[in-house]
Amino acid sequence: MDRAETPRVVAFDGVGLGYPGGTEVLHDVTFSLDSGSFHFLTGPSGAGKTSLLRLMYLAVRPTRGTLTLFGQDITRTSRRRLPDLRRRIGVVFQDFRLIRHLSAFDNVALPLRIAGAPDADVRRNVCELLQWVGLEAQSGMAPATLSGGQQQLVAVARAVIARPRLLLADEPTGNVDERVARRLMYLFEELNRLGTTVLVATHDEGLVRRYRHPRLALKDGALAALPAVRTAETVTVPPRADGTPLRPQPVPG
Ligand SMILES: Nc1ncnc2c1ncn2[C@@H]1O[C@H](COP(=O)(O)OP(=O)(O)OP(=O)(O)O)[C@@H](O)[C@H]1O
Ligand SMILES: [Mg+2]
Repeated sequence: MDRAETPRVVAFDGVGLGYPGGTEVLHDVTFSLDSGSFHFLTGPSGAGKTSLLRLMYLAVRPTRGTLTLFGQDITRTSRRRLPDLRRRIGVVFQDFRLIRHLSAFDNVALPLRIAGAPDADVRRNVCELLQWVGLEAQSGMAPATLSGGQQQLVAVARAVIARPRLLLADEPTGNVDERVARRLMYLFEELNRLGTTVLVATHDEGLVRRYRHPRLALKDGALAALPAVRTAETVTVPPRADGTPLRPQPVPG
């Protein structure tokens, strides 16, 4: 089966999530993301945005309901198959989660190396992307010696370098200035044009207003029924995002 033909990359059906020993933090969540769509995920602090993303990148399993990823019901999929699904997903963590003992370069290179890319390709693509996000001078530096914004850029570069089929970005512009935020949004949109399904969790209402992507709005662990929650209008069968490295073009303007 050509994975790119799966029309729904993500489908939640009546999903609930409770953390061990805690109360339920997500209730009866039902929505789906079509292949090639781009959504924002909004909601106040504590609404459950990160928890929803954690379900999607398989860090936690639903305590109720059904979650389907790339056409596979993950509540019925054996644990052994989860790493394969996980490799199709790029994640920008809210707290970056960079590997401390690796340089910026090696953090970004990791997904390509895991995919078995030849060294020369890894070097070329990582250098190109680091240069594009403005971090070529920091390439050899350890995460602890970078500013918060620079760490965020490394985290974004690592999430997009292998052109994942699904990109989940948790507050990806929370630590950078507006010019850099625009550049990152451009990167996400370019990845989306290449076929990646994108979900960006953000508090930044300005960001949501500036870009014309539909929003999923969470409040107190439930999705608000907003008319803006709709599927992408333009994308039919997008090209396959298959680990080919992302090579961003110059930003217009
Ligand atoms: N590991 C955990 N164990 C128990 N409860 C948790 C855990 N992680 C999150 N929660 C609870 O789940 C709820 C939702 O948290 P979550 O981090 O998903 O919110 P959020 O919308 O991402 O918030 P923010 O905008 O501040 O990032 C909160 O009440 C939080 O206390
Ligand atoms: Mg969060």
